Amino acid sequence: MAQEDLFKKIVAHAKEYGFVFQSSEIYDGLSAVYDYGQNGVELKNNIKRYWWNAMTQLHENIVGIDSSIFMHPTIWKASGHVDAFNDPLIDNRDSKKRYRADVLIEDEIAKFDDKINKEVAKAAKKFGENFDEKLYRETNPRVLEHAKKRDELHERYAKAMNDMNLEELRQIILDYGIVCPISGTKNWTDVRQFNLMFSTEMGSTSEGSMKVYLRPETAQGIFVNFLNVQKTGRMRLPFGIAQIGKAFRNEIVARQFIFRMREFEQMEMQFFVRPGEELEWFKKWKAARLKWHLALGMGEENYRYHDHEKLAHYANAATDIEFLMPFGFKEVEGIHSRTDFDLSNHEKFSGKKIQYFDPELNKSYVPYVIETSIGVDRMFLSVFAHSYEEETLENGETRVVLHLPAPLAPIKAAVMPLVRKDGLPDKAREIIDSLKFDFKMQYDEKDSIGKRYRRQDAVGTPFCITVDHQTLEDNTVTIRHRDTMEQSRVSIDDLHSILNKEVSMTELLKKLL
Ligand code: GAP
Repeated sequence: MAQEDLFKKIVAHAKEYGFVFQSSEIYDGLSAVYDYGQNGVELKNNIKRYWWNAMTQLHENIVGIDSSIFMHPTIWKASGHVDAFNDPLIDNRDSKKRYRADVLIEDEIAKFDDKINKEVAKAAKKFGENFDEKLYRETNPRVLEHAKKRDELHERYAKAMNDMNLEELRQIILDYGIVCPISGTKNWTDVRQFNLMFSTEMGSTSEGSMKVYLRPETAQGIFVNFLNVQKTGRMRLPFGIAQIGKAFRNEIVARQFIFRMREFEQMEMQFFVRPGEELEWFKKWKAARLKWHLALGMGEENYRYHDHEKLAHYANAATDIEFLMPFGFKEVEGIHSRTDFDLSNHEKFSGKKIQYFDPELNKSYVPYVIETSIGVDRMFLSVFAHSYEEETLENGETRVVLHLPAPLAPIKAAVMPLVRKDGLPDKAREIIDSLKFDFKMQYDEKDSIGKRYRRQDAVGTPFCITVDHQTLEDNTVTIRHRDTMEQSRVSIDDLHSILNKEVSMTELLKKLL
């Protein structure tokens, strides 16, 4: 199946099974804003719990906070967001549509890769088993020609972005004949900067109101509370502050479902260290964060680091953890060594001393910071998309199954009476009542057992427990495993430990040690 078709199916499945809905759907929707449904919110909460516990429970020196979305507007001056949190925009005069100039050019660059891949696919078909793809990519003249053109464009584009040369970005669009996908014309305006922050007015009177911003990242709420937490928690360096919360960005190119949203959620941790020790800690956090992802068992081959060549002026090291989405490897998490940029700037703009007294060195200084920042929604998308499978069974039938990592699954087990009589529903409810304190359970009695299994497969429930007439005699049930579809007869007394082995968050967290 083409990746594009697969992605469409994944999006449709997310809606059909109560994971993700378009926001304000009955009013035709609000672009790049989404709501999480009854199953989506459970999966999302489990992702957040996995991250939160990994940070604040497994590390004695990491504590959490929950800062507000509205903050003093000077914070965004100090952080650089008012002046520099911009995207380069261009309008097409005929369609009146607005685009990100950098995205238009990146799409053009991707077209060269598509051409290369088509050449390779054609050759693979022609030469069959003897085809040496690596050699072909390195030597075929047509492939090399496309690669050369791609690299030339990339180099020119990277320089224009580095210099923020807006005229050059426009010139590239004209030189490469990039047309508006709607009107098909090259009737472009100038490129100009567009700030991504949403703003609103706070206060009740026009004279007394103040322009405030919806935070574009949660990190600044941590920086401005550095002293509060350090002093009240008597924290000693190195230590971290973690936070999960909403962030808002007026993204111009909003596409790929929940990958790029205007309202989204971040899980961020700022780790404060002695100046000079930051690169060592950067390395440790880079490895620790990948380990957190890998523990979910979604395949090592689906992750890669993308080290930044071009660093933001305040960073001295940065990398992304990318995951293989249906539309290619994409950033899910960023790890940045942010030096003392944020704390120093808040010191400057607030006029308050934001320093740490180091008793071992007997001196005060502004700590350096390693940041780990992951989008909850992107993590959700990577887990959801990776788990989706249309499986052909041995009997030729197909089933749609979500192979979610069991500790993240919305429902851990469904309990099903074989028939709706003879006391079987009561027995099923009794089992649920004994397990519901530790596991999210679901009672399911409608339709045939086969249909009920399919329904639970489609939402990723790891176990289905069936109560039949034998249950009343010997206190045993059938337990069916989602991935293997194998069934076995077990005692009701063993259900807790069977479920716990696979779905427990504790077992998942133990893999991180
Ligand atoms: N404090 C650092 C920071 O905000 P970022 O790379 O801009 O860095 C961090 O964002 C993470 O937040 C990204 O890796 C991504 O997972 C998520 N993210 C950023 N913009 C997003 C958007 N528009 N929609 C969904 N997730 C987004």
